[in-house]
Amino acid sequence: MSGTILLTGGAGYIGSHTYVALKRAGYEVVILDNFANARDDVPDRLEVITGAPVTLHRADVLDKAAVAEVFRAHKIDAVVHFAAKKAVGESQKIPLEYIETNCTGLVNLLMAMRDAGVFKIVFSSSATVYAETEDWPIPESAPLGYASTYALTKLMGEQIITQAAGSDDRWRHGILRYFNPAGAHDSALIGEDPQDIPNNLMPYIAKVAVGELPELNIFGNDYPTPDGTGVRDYIHVMDLAEGHVKSLDALMAGGDSHIVNLGTGKGYSVMDMLASYSRACGRDLPYKVTPRRAGDLACYYGDPSKARALLGWEVARDLDDMCQTSWNWISRRSNMRAG
Ligand code: UFG
Repeated sequence: MSGTILLTGGAGYIGSHTYVALKRAGYEVVILDNFANARDDVPDRLEVITGAPVTLHRADVLDKAAVAEVFRAHKIDAVVHFAAKKAVGESQKIPLEYIETNCTGLVNLLMAMRDAGVFKIVFSSSATVYAETEDWPIPESAPLGYASTYALTKLMGEQIITQAAGSDDRWRHGILRYFNPAGAHDSALIGEDPQDIPNNLMPYIAKVAVGELPELNIFGNDYPTPDGTGVRDYIHVMDLAEGHVKSLDALMAGGDSHIVNLGTGKGYSVMDMLASYSRACGRDLPYKVTPRRAGDLACYYGDPSKARALLGWEVARDLDDMCQTSWNWISRRSNMRAG
């Protein structure tokens, strides 16, 4: 496919991997990022991976003039929108900032798109928009709900887009609800790199593996799951990135708006993840079992059959690939810092 894509949040974890997948698919890409949660050297690394210069606008989605300027400077054909705040715990502490960035930022973007005559958008949503359920795998038709301000902003984002689309039939959207992204690009040049103590499982294990944290705390081993630890639908970040390309390809080819899950349809436990990561880094990683984390579900995984049928998208990588690429990335990153 060809065309010029505005990629907001393109220096972040999922955004940077999606940049690589979009370039490989033949798109021109313009990144807009404020680097609030991205390292400054990500564009240089993207240049090494793709062998081509990166076009970057360093700006915030809340800056309406800066967003409009991007559409004046480039003939944009479609937008893939990642730029957002994403920490569930933090969203409970500063809800208004989350609503401002994730919802007002989206509205700014949609207005700038409309004013520039651009009507195709792929939106980064989350499986967190599903109401709590014990009915797995979760299809797109499952009841929606929210248990955090972060989840609320993703649910509102979906509704803002569909509401705008109802007013003008030129709009086409791909809303992608993803499960638990993990892993890194094969080059080990980009990956997840949290600056604080991670909340999520894989980046936490990665920091244990490189010795930056002493041991993994397993939040409960008395859940009704095969080994008692929580089960999630971990998906390789490059599979996720390729899902965005498939969604965009469909819109660019004149396809209809869609809402799809991007998950594997398989659940892995905390112990599965720890065992796979231990194989990847070549040693048994230390852990202790602690009480359950408030708000955690025993099990959560998606039904990816709609994405397969509609977009021809399927995952190509497994848990060992996620752990191996994460280890390759984090061990190299950690050596680079030390040296
Ligand atoms: N876990 C641990 N120890 C840790 C971190 C996590 O045992 O240090 C366990 C959790 O209890 C859970 C599993 O690992 O069983 C996965 O936890 P994560 O925090 O990695 O992921 P969650 O499924 O809890 O959260 C993810 C996203 C959120 C999203 C949520 C609901 O990170 O953004 O799914 O969709 F809101």
